[in-house]
Amino acid sequence: MSQTSQPIGIFDSGIGGLSVAYAILHQLPAELLLYFGDTAHIPYGTKPASTIRRYSENICRFLLDQGCKLIVVACNTASAAALNHLRHLWPDVPIVGMEPAVKPGALATRTGKVGVLATAGTFKSQRYASLMHRFAKEVELLENPCLGLVERIEAGQLDGPETEQLLRSIINPMLAAGADAFVLGCTHYPFVQPLIEKIAGPDIAIINPAPAVARQVERLLHESGQLSMEPLPHHRFFISGKDEDGHFKRMAKTLLGFSPELISGHLI
Ligand code: DGL
Repeated sequence: MSQTSQPIGIFDSGIGGLSVAYAILHQLPAELLLYFGDTAHIPYGTKPASTIRRYSENICRFLLDQGCKLIVVACNTASAAALNHLRHLWPDVPIVGMEPAVKPGALATRTGKVGVLATAGTFKSQRYASLMHRFAKEVELLENPCLGLVERIEAGQLDGPETEQLLRSIINPMLAAGADAFVLGCTHYPFVQPLIEKIAGPDIAIINPAPAVARQVERLLHESGQLSMEPLPHHRFFISGKDEDGHFKRMAKTLLGFSPELISGHLI
């Protein structure tokens, strides 16, 4: 395989990274994706950073062994815990990470209050502290670690009454405090964006960084002359857990619009 036709490796703790995969395929339809969802270890957000670093290193090694030309850490929690470590281990590999879009949130708010939805692991990280320091001096960030939300989304409960109730308990206090911009700081959360819009109404900004990440992937591949030139439809998806009832495959089909070739139970 020539370098241009090698896959983009992308990983998350579960289905969250599919929101980023979707944006990449929209931006770069000729690219081949190799996705890894670490469903045996989900959730990442409540685990120690050292554990997430170990998982991320193992997944990255697997993706590189498969010949990936670029890695997307499609998980804010893993990026916060492991991005520097991965770049240090593989200095010649382009590795794109995620971070809560605090800067766009600060630019979007008119009230000076920005709701940030992310995981506990992301909020505890140095990377988040640095974002606050650099971009949130003039605004107030209202943070919520959204306990239980990743699990609901992972279970496919994107719009039921219990998910709505959980989201209301997160969003309503932020609205009451004056938030008019919301940052989706976890790649699972774009899948409940319609529900957030329903709760918060039309006058608020919701920021999903996935399209910006997809543009960054395009920039890097363009600069290194590695953009794929012809459509390659055989995306491959691995998950570390089992997909006995076909749930991941169904979710991927709903979220991406096609049924992926899935290899489950792939422990790394
Ligand atoms: N999707 C991940 C993120 O962007 C975290 C989900 C989890 O807690 O596993 O932070």
